[in-house]
Amino acid sequence: MAMSIAQFTFFSRAASSSFLHRTNARFNQFTFSTPFSTAAATCTRKKNGRLPVMSALELGGVKIARDDVVRDDPTNNVPDSIFSKLGMQLHKRNQHPIGILKNAIYEYFDANYSNKFDKFDDLCPLVSVKQNFDDVLVPADHISRSYNDTYYVDSQTVLRCHTSAHQAELLRDGHTHFLVTGDVYRRDSIDSTHYPVFHQMEGFRVFSPKEWEASGLDGTSYAADDLKKCLEGLARHLFGAVEMRWIDAYFPFTNPSFELEIYFQEKWMEVLGCGVTEQEILRNNGQLDSVAWAFGLGLERLAMVLFDIPDIRLFWSNDERFTSQFTKGKMGIKFKPFSKFPPCYKDMSFWINESFTENNLCEVVRGVAGDLAEEVQLIDNFTNKKGMTSHCYRIAYRSMERSLTDEEINELQRKVREQVETKLNVELR
Ligand code: PHE
Repeated sequence: MAMSIAQFTFFSRAASSSFLHRTNARFNQFTFSTPFSTAAATCTRKKNGRLPVMSALELGGVKIARDDVVRDDPTNNVPDSIFSKLGMQLHKRNQHPIGILKNAIYEYFDANYSNKFDKFDDLCPLVSVKQNFDDVLVPADHISRSYNDTYYVDSQTVLRCHTSAHQAELLRDGHTHFLVTGDVYRRDSIDSTHYPVFHQMEGFRVFSPKEWEASGLDGTSYAADDLKKCLEGLARHLFGAVEMRWIDAYFPFTNPSFELEIYFQEKWMEVLGCGVTEQEILRNNGQLDSVAWAFGLGLERLAMVLFDIPDIRLFWSNDERFTSQFTKGKMGIKFKPFSKFPPCYKDMSFWINESFTENNLCEVVRGVAGDLAEEVQLIDNFTNKKGMTSHCYRIAYRSMERSLTDEEINELQRKVREQVETKLNVELR
């Protein structure tokens, strides 16, 4: 295992799973202001006088109806495909790679911290803007708050985009050592490592002054050292040998901040963000003289490496040829692809407008093709003399489970073209 500390400029790196590494889409007409709110969202069904429409699901014992989440309202950008993922809770399935990994991480913490970490895996993914952003000091103009990047249920309620959304409430409830696992939601591009729903585990540990005073270090250095030791130990517990490196990073809620990257499929892949918690968060939530560390790790990213899973869509597959390969409590298993069906590529070109973003395009593609969309890639981009900009995107369609027919793909592409034109208001070429 090679560990090194490397310096990287934060914004020079490609969009990835981490909170601040989002596609650099600009604020535009899809953005609306989300005024500071103190109202905490709950999972209680809103009393809007309407009967539940179509379906409802239960999360942590609370019923959520479709129309609590998906609404025909300009402040709502949650499609049905996302609503359908809300109750899946892959992290609670003990025979699923995500659940197996969660349990393996629990094991590490239980063994090394004698069961001191409180575990939460059933907190509601519908949270307030305050919980998701304000409580963890995300600036008012931060890109992650945009309608282009986050799923808004209404102007004050979002589908959490990270498990850090629960830090403040758990601190206020008096927890000092905790792990929060849950599904998180982000509007994003389409490729083998990005999916609009994925799973994170948040870790948080508070230290009291007497813990660091004897060490001769200041609180921040003490917490930073402890954090790195803890995560390096976790990495060894999970991987044994794998190439990894620490990167200096930036998060609004930690300082200093770091990321851990792992070498996979010939690329460095970011798997977690972490750091020493900003004092303001501790102070605001009843921890006056303490310091703390926090980390947020992406379970899919780790599971892809650990179980050799080549495409993030597989985690959502109900195909027995996938699900039957994993066993409760067993980490060493390597996924054997049942067969590789050929991809089919379709290109489409259009003149973009001011409000065009790739995330909006990907939402349309996913809305039509669902998990048959494997990748959406910009392959050509130019501006003509009149100042009009053309984009050409290549869409790869591929099922993980079967061969697709030409007719089926042509029909998908026809619908994508139609909806791209009507929903995104672009001019097809
Ligand atoms: N919330 C961050 C993310 O989603 C990860 C993180 C958690 C970073 C805790 C620092 C501390 O990318």
